[in-house]
Amino acid sequence: MVKSWKWLDPFANFFGAIVGGFYKIPGTHGIKSLLHGTWPLGHPLHPMVTDLTIGGYTATIALDIVYVITRNLALPQAADFLIVASFLTSLASIVSGLTDWNETIDEERRTGMLHGLLMVVASVGFFVSIWLRLHGVADQRDPAVWLALVSWAILIVSSFFGGEMVFAYGTEVNRQAWSEPPTKWERLDVYESSLEDRKPVVGKTKSGFAVFVVKLDDKIYAMGNTCTHAGGPLNEGKWVGADRCEIQCPWHASRFCVKDAKVHGGPATFSEVRFQTRAADGRVEVRAI
Ligand code: FES
Repeated sequence: MVKSWKWLDPFANFFGAIVGGFYKIPGTHGIKSLLHGTWPLGHPLHPMVTDLTIGGYTATIALDIVYVITRNLALPQAADFLIVASFLTSLASIVSGLTDWNETIDEERRTGMLHGLLMVVASVGFFVSIWLRLHGVADQRDPAVWLALVSWAILIVSSFFGGEMVFAYGTEVNRQAWSEPPTKWERLDVYESSLEDRKPVVGKTKSGFAVFVVKLDDKIYAMGNTCTHAGGPLNEGKWVGADRCEIQCPWHASRFCVKDAKVHGGPATFSEVRFQTRAADGRVEVRAI
């Protein structure tokens, strides 16, 4: 359905220009890694903060409804605290979500844009509800409660499309999650003598796992070749970093250290599978560690 909603594209272009433009500013690399969850979490940040936001708003609505039914004057204070706290966590949800979304394409991008636009509408509703609660007089409490309820309904619809991003398109899902690298020594069709410094080659295991093999300063290193972010081919990336031991994915510029297979820069948040290497009969053998 969302696939054909081209009216979302101008919004996507607008937000894409803002987010992409911001991350082109020198020195923002650390902020990007933080918001993806690459550092220090090593796990996507967005789903963690959205859980806080949705849970907080839902608890607010529950307290509001009980208040409307019982008129128990102890409840509004707790509801007001929760809605303000949820609004604050929603700011982290929005910026982390936009950071993840900016690395998407096509249908995934449109679905993410719809998710984001609905979240913006819900957030404006919650903000006005907070304003009414904090600045309004007693007879404005009911409009504030109903406005929060409508905003919550929009939030739930938005969450549906957020879930669609993960479950239908695999946004930020580890692309190596289902792979089965060998844990026993396995010989690759890669000859030790054919390896040249910093010229990666791809070897395949019996199960079809693609292994990035490279010679670096006379040592052979190996790790997964499929980028954990969205499946980019790491052997086509370029060398970066002070001692040129990091490979940068050609698709969205995630960086992996070839020596320990750890992710050093997002959007990827998961490290690569790391292999031990040895040479036997002139060929390279690997086993996952
Ligand atoms: S596929 Fe996105 S950074 Fe590699």
